Parts: sequence; structure tokens; C-alpha cells
Amino acid sequence: MKGVVLAGGLGTRLWPLTKVINKHLLPVGPYPMIYYPIGMLVDAGIGDLMIVTGGNNAGMFLELLGNGCEFGLEHINYTHQATPAGIADALKLVEHFVNRERFVVILGDNVIGGSIREHVEGFARQERGAKVLLAKVDDPSDTGVAVLDDAGRVTKIVEKPKERISDHAVIGVYMYDELVWDILPELRPSGRGELEITDVNNAYLERGLLTADVLACDWGDAGRSPDYLFEASIIARRNKLLSHFELLRRGAG
Ligand code: DAU
Repeated sequence: MKGVVLAGGLGTRLWPLTKVINKHLLPVGPYPMIYYPIGMLVDAGIGDLMIVTGGNNAGMFLELLGNGCEFGLEHINYTHQATPAGIADALKLVEHFVNRERFVVILGDNVIGGSIREHVEGFARQERGAKVLLAKVDDPSDTGVAVLDDAGRVTKIVEKPKERISDHAVIGVYMYDELVWDILPELRPSGRGELEITDVNNAYLERGLLTADVLACDWGDAGRSPDYLFEASIIARRNKLLSHFELLRRGAG
């Protein structure tokens, strides 16, 4: 299975922190934000990675991460999204890399208080389709939201609904099979002018090919606001993966 970290976009919600520094390079706990999604994939056993860069100072990703030796990797692939036209738009840039294999996508500003390994293993056992991860949250506004039926199955996903329709946020970890390459060309820009990942997930849902797991640990969206950036640092400090990073850092030292 391959791994993709999406780190394009402009980070306008964190301005002026992001005026000159790329959002994904801001500190979250003791590491730059992008260390968390990369560490999450490596911890889940995925070492063949592509990072979609973009926004300001995109060259700094290479400077910071190099070939990924701090994560025990020998090589990292990079690509560049010239215009922040949406998460699903960024995915189009990795088709040649993923090459019809299954893959896990993590948004570069998502921080999780634990491992996603069991969910990735569950997806590997799934015959086909996609898997999303949900988190029960106090404030689901400003996220993709999943409505569940009595059996806990997702019935629909709505991007940033105006009214509260569920407590379950769809977090920025998505797992897809090769059907995604047929879905992406069918998407049309949303009201905010972006190709939405929620439309991709709903396309799988309509075909009966979407599964969802509820995350058992904390989740943070560090890009949502300065307060959420701060909260992500608290989640990061509690994350047991941190010791994993420490080991890797010492190994790379
Ligand atoms: O964090 C989870 C949420 O992420 C989901 O619940 C939403 O359904 C999903 O749409 C997304 O919402 P956001 O509004 O928080 O997405 P944002 O624009 O902040 O982008 C999140 C990451 O995706 C960002 O760190 C970099 C990457 N990205 C984003 C855009 C718009 C790209 O690589 N390219 C882009 O064009």
C-alpha cells in the first residue's frame, strides 16, 4: 500500500502565522506539523510515500525532510500543487505514483493521538472500495460530517453543514482503491471553488463501497484556527507515537 500526505493550500485560517511560513512547517508540540502525518503512515507500515507540496516556501519541505531518514525511510517522493484547488484536486497529482495500487491519504494538518495501523490493516482486508475514519467531537462545524444510522453505518457525508446534523467528523485520513481515478474526473468545484474530498467519499458511499471506523483516540485539525493549532500540540504531547519519532531520530542521528 502507498501513502500520500497532502500539504498544499495556503493556510489562510492561521494567518499571519502562515504569512511567510508554510502551515505544515509550523511547530506542533516538539515537531513541525508535517512530521505527524508522515509518522502516522510509517507507523502503519507504509514507507512508500509522496508528499504534495504547495503554498509558500514549498522548497522548505525538501530542506526539512530530505529523503526521510528521520523516519527510517530511504526515499520520499515529492510533487507540487501550483494552485490550491482543493484536496481532491491535489489527489490528481499522485495518480502516476500510486499507479492503481491502494493508498492511504493523510491531510498534512491532521494530528492524531494514537496509531491508525489497525484501520489500515482493516482496509487491506476489505475486498474493494474506500474507508474513512470518524472522530466524535464537541464541535463538528467546519469539518466534513458523517450522518450514521442506528447500526452505525454512514448514510451521508456533508461538508461543513450549516446546522448540527451529527457529532461525527470525518477526519483527514482516507483510504482508496483504484476506483478513485474514475471518480476524480467526474467532480465539479464546490461553492468554495474547490474539488471536495467529501464528494469523492460520497461517490464511494453511493456505490455501497465506503466503510467507516470511529477513531478511539484524540484527533486534531491543526489548520482550523490558532486555538486548534494549540490543541493539536496538546494531543501531540500525549501521542505515544512521539516515542516512536524519538527512536527514529536517535536512529537517524
Ligand atoms: O481536517 C479534516 C477536514 O479536512 C475534513 O473534515 C473535511 O471534510 C475536509 O474538507 C478538510 O477540511 P478543511 O477545510 O479543514 O481543509 P483545508 O482546506 O484546511 O485543507 C486540509 C489540508 O489539505 C491542508 O493541510 C493541505 C491539504 N490541501 C488543501 C487544499 C485546499 C492541499 O494539499 N491542497 C489544497 O488545494
